Amino acid sequence: MNIYDNKAVLKFLIVIVAIALAGLSLWYTNVLVNNLAQREQRLIDLYAKGLKTLVSENTSDNLSFLFNEIIETNDFIPVILTDDKRQIINTKNIYINPDWDVQKKDKFFKSQLFELQNSHAPIKLEIAPGIVNYIYYGDSKLLNQLKYYPYIQLGVIALFAFLTYLLFSYTRNAEQNRVWAGMAKETAHQLGTPISSLMAWVELFKSDVLLKDHFAIPELEKDIKRLDTVTARFSNIGSKPLLKEEIIEDVIQESVSYLQLRISNRVKISMHSELTPQTTVMINKPLFEWVIENLCKNAVDAMAGSGKLDIFLQQDNLKRILIDVQDTGKGIAKNKIKEVFRPGFTTKKRGWGLGLTLAKRIIESYHKGQIFVKTSEIDKGTTFRMVL
Ligand SMILES: Nc1ncnc2c1ncn2[C@@H]1O[C@H](COP(=O)(O)OP(=O)(O)OP(=O)(O)O)[C@@H](O)[C@H]1O
Ligand SMILES: [Mg+2]
Repeated sequence: MNIYDNKAVLKFLIVIVAIALAGLSLWYTNVLVNNLAQREQRLIDLYAKGLKTLVSENTSDNLSFLFNEIIETNDFIPVILTDDKRQIINTKNIYINPDWDVQKKDKFFKSQLFELQNSHAPIKLEIAPGIVNYIYYGDSKLLNQLKYYPYIQLGVIALFAFLTYLLFSYTRNAEQNRVWAGMAKETAHQLGTPISSLMAWVELFKSDVLLKDHFAIPELEKDIKRLDTVTARFSNIGSKPLLKEEIIEDVIQESVSYLQLRISNRVKISMHSELTPQTTVMINKPLFEWVIENLCKNAVDAMAGSGKLDIFLQQDNLKRILIDVQDTGKGIAKNKIKEVFRPGFTTKKRGWGLGLTLAKRIIESYHKGQIFVKTSEIDKGTTFRMVL
């Protein structure tokens, strides 16, 4: 299994397993909580019965021994005994600060009574005909802790997992960036030497009386210029590229003219601008041209050699420049639209699936802009939009 290609499936599996584990843990603690609650209930019932017996029979030593036993065994369930007017007679397992004054203690007991009443209905205790007492009781500390424990546990684990994920994805991105930038810079660097020497050779030819008018010299110069552009692209993407004010229409026009000569003449590229003439945008020219080239090449590929490629330029009311590259090609399937910017995603035999990844990186990381598929319809065409 190729882990990279099945990343979505893998993520899905991990999430499912995590949810299952969390569910299992919650379920199991719930079982424990229920068991414990039942036990506590039985104990309270016993307690009530004990008290009832105690008050209805004549107090004998035996009984008071039993009472003590019962009361002593309950050293964890908070209990308040009141008369029928809710006046507190006795309490057990409700801890107060001995330094408090009477008023404060009273207030505290009242609030405790209210809490206990909310957690369980009180047990009615008919001591004598007409005389009724009530036992208010709550859950033991242990039961309460156990109820919340799994949530705290899962919360801590989830937080930890999340932080680890962030850390790893951060270091992974940093690593990728370094490899990517390093390769680009190295390529630019290595191309530099042969290009300068090529330039020197051309100068030499031009100074030769016999060769200087040779038709190949301008062609050679054009190719050297192109190599220079390529080097500039690599060197710019490998470092923090400088942005400069450029007349956006001219930059795009230049790329389009270059491309038009090199693609099938059954594809017509046209530009439609609604911008005020000479509108400038802060861009890095070599990189921006690279994006335009990638988008146009993809469009030409999608049209299989014949169709219309339109580039629209407009400005929105936030003063942002919108550039739409619209083709009449085969379109992108709906479920693939999100995928096209992913490195390695290609539907072409000779594709690397890097063109759009690069475009996204250039537009979003280096120009702080946006690039996305605006619309795409199978067999009708696709429009990519850039916002700068
Ligand atoms: N205008 C378009 N119309 C239809 N499909 C497109 C269009 N642009 C991109 N795609 C789809 O997105 C995929 C990825 O494009 P991308 O430019 O990233 O890689 P590629 O063109 O396949 O290879 P390369 O790295 O050589 O550019 C393409 O293979 C194609 O399926
Ligand atoms: Mg491409």
